[in-house]
Amino acid sequence: MPATGGNLRRMERDLSEAATALRGSRSVLIVSHIDADGISAGAVASITADRLSIPRRTVFEKKITEDTISMVDSAEEDAVWICDLGSGYLSEFGRSGIIVTDHHVPDPRWRRDQTVLDSFTSIHHLNPHVYGMDGSYEVCGAGMTYLLSRAVDPSNTDLAFLAVVGAVGDFQDSGESRLVGLNRMILRDAEVNGDVLVEDDLRLFGRETRPLTQFLQFCNEPVIPGISDNPSGCTAFLDSLMVPLKENGRWRVWNDLSPDEKARVTDGLLELVEFNQRDRLLGEMYTLPKLPSGTGLRDAKEYATVLNSCGRYDDAETGLRICMGDTSALAVADRNRAEHRRHISTALAYVRDNHLMRERRFLQYFDAGSEIRETVVGIVAGMLLNTPECRHNLPIIAFVDAEDGTKVSARANRDLASRGLDLSEVMKTAAGLVGGFGGGHSVAAGATIPPESKEEFLDIVEDIVSSQVF
Ligand code: C5P
Ligand code: ZN
Repeated sequence: MPATGGNLRRMERDLSEAATALRGSRSVLIVSHIDADGISAGAVASITADRLSIPRRTVFEKKITEDTISMVDSAEEDAVWICDLGSGYLSEFGRSGIIVTDHHVPDPRWRRDQTVLDSFTSIHHLNPHVYGMDGSYEVCGAGMTYLLSRAVDPSNTDLAFLAVVGAVGDFQDSGESRLVGLNRMILRDAEVNGDVLVEDDLRLFGRETRPLTQFLQFCNEPVIPGISDNPSGCTAFLDSLMVPLKENGRWRVWNDLSPDEKARVTDGLLELVEFNQRDRLLGEMYTLPKLPSGTGLRDAKEYATVLNSCGRYDDAETGLRICMGDTSALAVADRNRAEHRRHISTALAYVRDNHLMRERRFLQYFDAGSEIRETVVGIVAGMLLNTPECRHNLPIIAFVDAEDGTKVSARANRDLASRGLDLSEVMKTAAGLVGGFGGGHSVAAGATIPPESKEEFLDIVEDIVSSQVF
C-alpha cells in the first residue's frame, strides 16, 4: 500500500483521535526507547504532557520485554504513550488507553480494535507502515511522536527540531544524503521556527567538536584514498591546501574554517573520490543555530550522538534533560560521551585486532562475547560494515552476551535493501525459529536468541538472506 493522499488523510484522522484521547487523560506513563531517536521522542512526549498539565512519568527501555508489558498493563496512569517502541508487540498488551507512536515494523497479528481474549484492547497505533510509508527513512519514532504533539497543539512546532535529531540519529538521511518523505515536512516546521538550518556540506561526523584531522580520517562512507584511516595523510592534505590545524593553540574544527577554506578542502576531497561516490560525501547537514557551539549540540548528528552516549550507558535521563533544555546536564553528558568514544574505539579495536570477523557465503559475522555492550554492538557493527576489512555487499551479524541470552545486531547497506533484503524480517523469523525474538528495520535490526543456537541461527539467517537477495 503506497503513501497516497488518502493514506495521509487517514493518518491525520488517527492523529487527531489520539490527540483527543491524550488531552482527555488525567495522567500518562511515557515509555520510550534508549537510543537517540527514542530519547528525542520521549522528550517530545514529555514536553507535550507537561504543556497540557497532565502529570507524567517517563521511563526508558532497551526493548519491549515481558516485564515492560506487565509494567504497561499494571501502570496506574490512565494513558500510556509508547514512543519509538511497541509496534512489534501490539497484540501482547492487555489494557486500554495505549497510544503508540513508533516506526518499527508492526506486529502482523494485531488488528485495529481487536478483542484480546476477554479484554477489549484498543490501541491508537500511529506508525508510517500503516499508511504505506517506510519507517526506515520516511519518518522515525520521534517524528511520529512529534506529529501527535502537533496534533495536540499546533504551537508545538518548536519541538520539530527534536524529530530532526531523532531522524538523523536513526540514519534516516543516509540513503539520499538528506531527509525525505514526512521527515522533510517536519524539517520545514523546524526551519520555519529558525530551530534548524539546512546546509549543503560534507557529510562527515563532528563538524562542531572533532579536530580537523580526526574529522577527515574517520570518513568511511565513501572511503577516501589517502584520507580515510590515515591521520598523517590528512595532515599532509590540509597542509597542502594551507589550512592551519590550530588557531591560538587550540585545535580547529570544521566549523571554525572560513567559507574559502571549506571550499578548498571540499574540492580537494571531491577530486579524491570516484565520481559516483560524490553524492555520499556531499549532502544536507542540519545545524541547530540556537544551541551553543562547541558543545556537540549545534549539529543534529552530534546532538544525536550525545543522546546515544547517555541512553546506551543507562543514563537516558540525562539525554532527556538535555532535550528539555537543561544545560546543567551537559557536563554529565560530556562524561558520557567520552566514555562512549572510549568504548566504541576499544570495541572496534577488539574485533579487528583479534580477527573476529568471519565470512560465509551470504553474510559476515563476529562474536564479541562480553567485550562489547549489547546497547552499542549495533553501532560498532554499522561502523565496521564500511571499513576495508568488511564486505560492503554482505550483511553483518554481531553477537554479544546479554543477561537474557545472546544479543544479535544486524546491519546492511541500503543497496542490499533496495535489492530486497529486509533484516527486520530476517531477525524476526530466524530468532523465532530458534526460540528467541527480534525485529527492527530493513537495514538495522536485532534479536535475542538462546546462546547455544548461534550456529543454527546463522544457518537460518543465511537461508533467508539468500532467498531475499541473491
Ligand atoms: O540493538 P540494535 O541497535 O542492533 O537494534 C537495531 C534495531 O532493531 C532497533 O531499531 C531495535 O529497536 C530493533 N530491535 C528489535 N528487536 C530486538 C532487537 C532490536 O526490534 N530484539
Ligand atoms: Zn527509532
